[in-house]
Amino acid sequence: GVDAEFSGASGTFPTVRPRRLRTTPAMRRMVAEHRTHPADLILPAFVREGVDAPVPISSMPGVVQHSLDSLRAAAVEAVEAGVSGLMLFGVPEDEKKDAVGTPGTDPDGILQVALRAVRAEVGDELVLMADTCLDEVTDHGHCGVLDSEGRVDNDATLARYGEMAVVQAEAGARVLGPSGMMDGQIGVIRRALDAAGHQDVALLAYTAKYTSAFYGPFREAVNSSLRGDRSTYQQDPPNAREALRELALDLAEGADMVMVKPGLPYLDVLRTIADRVTVPVAAYQISGEYAMVEVAAERGLLDRERAIDETLTAFKRAGADLVLTYWATEFARRSRERL
Ligand code: PBG
Repeated sequence: GVDAEFSGASGTFPTVRPRRLRTTPAMRRMVAEHRTHPADLILPAFVREGVDAPVPISSMPGVVQHSLDSLRAAAVEAVEAGVSGLMLFGVPEDEKKDAVGTPGTDPDGILQVALRAVRAEVGDELVLMADTCLDEVTDHGHCGVLDSEGRVDNDATLARYGEMAVVQAEAGARVLGPSGMMDGQIGVIRRALDAAGHQDVALLAYTAKYTSAFYGPFREAVNSSLRGDRSTYQQDPPNAREALRELALDLAEGADMVMVKPGLPYLDVLRTIADRVTVPVAAYQISGEYAMVEVAAERGLLDRERAIDETLTAFKRAGADLVLTYWATEFARRSRERL
């Protein structure tokens, strides 16, 4: 019986050996429960106004603030590698930023110019996405407009998001990513888009976006003017159940896809959300997560490619369908070479 089988009485204990399925790379590949496909990946990219060559971001080795030309080239490379989407962030000239984020609703603002340029270059071969948020375009660096006491004014901000959304849709964005964590942002943007005839533009809701130290390098990436933090609008790290409340609101307001951000420190939240929804779920591997691996690898502390692969596997294992990662093109290329 079972006892005899496992007790070693037969002299061949153990008979059940999980290691048999780990013997060769081909065997491990065959039995892998999860894999990351290039089509799962979305490349976030920064485009800076007024530069004619890409500007390196020192806190994110290997990532740049693109010129329009280098952005177009990066979009073509992403398509060729099989990446699905491009999430664009605009970096206006500093003197154009103001209290209400005018460059965000100016049809000639850098993000809109870049959306049109990428559409002209790659058409719909990439799903073109835009960051629908004010922090890159305000002179105070907050994700919304401020009231007379300097607090972020939720409802006044919603009105600005509605305007931004329409301008971004008109510039060619197919998906909008409202990242400001204002209450009601998905509903207001959905209504503004529909009223303007953009029913087909989809919303990727930043459902569970936590206030995080790991956004640090992003501040350099977008030349952020922020002093202070975003803890009155982004979620507080100790709260997991609250993410379900945000999820219910986003779905009720019309989110087409939902996202958890940051990635690695919030895999539990990702798993919980992925278990509950019928819409696609994304994880955003943010600037600080990227920087940790790059800088540790630079110092020879870990194997860079293995570390990248392992982090992407972690998102898939935790239930992500899509991953926004600054390594999208590199990873997609590498996984094609392996085929
Ligand atoms: C806000 C926004 C941020 C990121 C994406 N959208 C910064 C923040 O919330 O402070 C961070 C992305 C990253 O760190 O890679 N528009």
